Amino acid sequence: MKINKLLPLKDILIIDDAEKIHALSDDENIDRQFKLHNLLNRFKIKRSLKNLSYNGTRFPHMLPKQDSIRIERHTGLWNLFNSKAAAMAEGPDELEPIAKWIRHETTDKEPGILAQQVIGQFFNPAFKATQKSWESALIFHEDAVTTNLPKWLWWQLTGKAQHAKKFLALTVNGDIVAMHGIGVAVHNLVASIHKLRLLYDDIAVRKNITPEKAVDLSLSAPPVVLRQAVTKGVAAGCPYSKFTLFMLKLKDANNDGNAKDLIFMTNSWSRCPAEQWIPAVISGIWNRAMTSERKKEITQ
Ligand code: HEM
Repeated sequence: MKINKLLPLKDILIIDDAEKIHALSDDENIDRQFKLHNLLNRFKIKRSLKNLSYNGTRFPHMLPKQDSIRIERHTGLWNLFNSKAAAMAEGPDELEPIAKWIRHETTDKEPGILAQQVIGQFFNPAFKATQKSWESALIFHEDAVTTNLPKWLWWQLTGKAQHAKKFLALTVNGDIVAMHGIGVAVHNLVASIHKLRLLYDDIAVRKNITPEKAVDLSLSAPPVVLRQAVTKGVAAGCPYSKFTLFMLKLKDANNDGNAKDLIFMTNSWSRCPAEQWIPAVISGIWNRAMTSERKKEITQ
């Protein structure tokens, strides 16, 4: 467990150890209530809540475990995503633009708009991703993670991130879960698509991996998720005080590939409801890219 020793108040713990993350996520005292406490803790929490709320409603991954709306929505989403996973794994037409990007058949530098389109139309078939919706997602993300404080302050003054979030909301009629998909989760899918293209670029690898292997090699966990101690306690041998903020570095904790459950927090109450759908999307993209590859081989 890394402790911010340089900081005067040791109430933020940064954890990049899989075993400790498992212990903390099972700990009843660790939740996402996010109460403001002392100076340092308060700044980090306020900043995250400001970024990850819209019109006073928190994004789903910032809600407490016992929040009744979160619980009800989580089950509904879980079922809906899973009911559409098998069809996605087949590689439907809607995945062709991404398959083309992987095969270098488009001039787009980034697959961001394409990834946003797949997620957005899951929630609303009429959804249309645009350059502006993708740029809004980038601004919204940077507002959450930038360490450039003057820039961040300028963005707060000018309302840049707020405008970007508002635009995302407009494209999905204010549906906060869809906003999470096209503004937060989309960055994880884009990272996977970039990895798929690298796999495709290596001809020896391309011909020898199955869609399942492509999923395995391209998925990665979100860099960090947040938790807070409801009361003082001890987890994995490490004592913590009430209100301690935990930054769980999921991606780093799975760097060696030995904690794959952290990619979607599969064994936790907060597990991602899209944990089967996203692998199906990736599998479908790979299938699609390779189907066209095989057609090319036959005609050559
Ligand atoms: C590669 C893609 C994705 C990855 C790696 C991923 C990963 C995760 C992880 C690790 C969590 C747990 C957060 C926490 O413990 O605080 C989570 C939660 C969540 N994810 Fe995903 N996700 C992905 C895509 C999506 C998509 C496309 C959606 C669609 C909206 C989605 C919706 C959610 C929701 C609603 C939660 C909150 C669950 C809850 O706590 O009630 N995710 N995701």
